[in-house]
Amino acid sequence: MREYINTFENFNNNRIVIEVIKQDDNDGCIDVLYSNFKDLVSSKEELHNKIKPRLNNGLSICLKNEGQVVGVYLLNQNSINNFIESVKRNEVYDFPYNETIITLDEDLSDNGLQGIALSVLPEYRGAGYGNMLKNYTYNLGYDYIWGVQDKKLENIEQWKRTRKIFAESPTRYATYLKF
Ligand SMILES: CC(C)(COP(=O)(O)OP(=O)(O)OC[C@H]1O[C@@H](n2cnc3c(N)ncnc32)[C@H](O)[C@@H]1OP(=O)(O)O)[C@@H](O)C(=O)NCCC(=O)NCCS
Repeated sequence: MREYINTFENFNNNRIVIEVIKQDDNDGCIDVLYSNFKDLVSSKEELHNKIKPRLNNGLSICLKNEGQVVGVYLLNQNSINNFIESVKRNEVYDFPYNETIITLDEDLSDNGLQGIALSVLPEYRGAGYGNMLKNYTYNLGYDYIWGVQDKKLENIEQWKRTRKIFAESPTRYATYLKF
């Protein structure tokens, strides 16, 4: 109960804010992402190298509590059409063309936003902050958001509440939500 009240107070006092990620936030963002995705990479350095181009692109956001990064949503301007073309050229490592089922059944524009990684620290979960980060992306002028889910995370049922699967490989799903 105390935890809930604290969270509520934070909401009211606006101590929890969403900001576009700046250079000074990088270490905090890497720590938050590493704490959630360490099983998917071999080291923090590998994670840093993978996400470097997405950190300070003026689009990716973080959630801060009194200056400390407690959540991250890495974003990238990219379309599903572009992704599917790359899969067809067999250029996407996690989606080998001959093992990928594409089920997209409608035409989508090229004005897409890609959600790369979403993460909230465990002690802040379940209070609506994940949805706060997601909601922020709905008004950026894109037609839809899409992303890839690693099957190891076993969270596709949660994503299916808002998203539709448009591709599946042996190890990944790809899902989208039209705005
Ligand atoms: C996913 C995550 C960011 C949600 O953060 P949160 O602050 O607890 O989210 P909220 O309290 O705002 O709840 C938001 C939604 O997230 C969903 N959710 C909960 N756990 C989730 C998970 N592991 N993966 C995806 N969605 C999840 C909830 O069902 C809820 O959906 P609803 O509003 O449709 O009921 C958080 O659980 C997390 O960091 N998980 C570990 C990292 C991860 O798995 N990220 C997704 C990678 S594909």
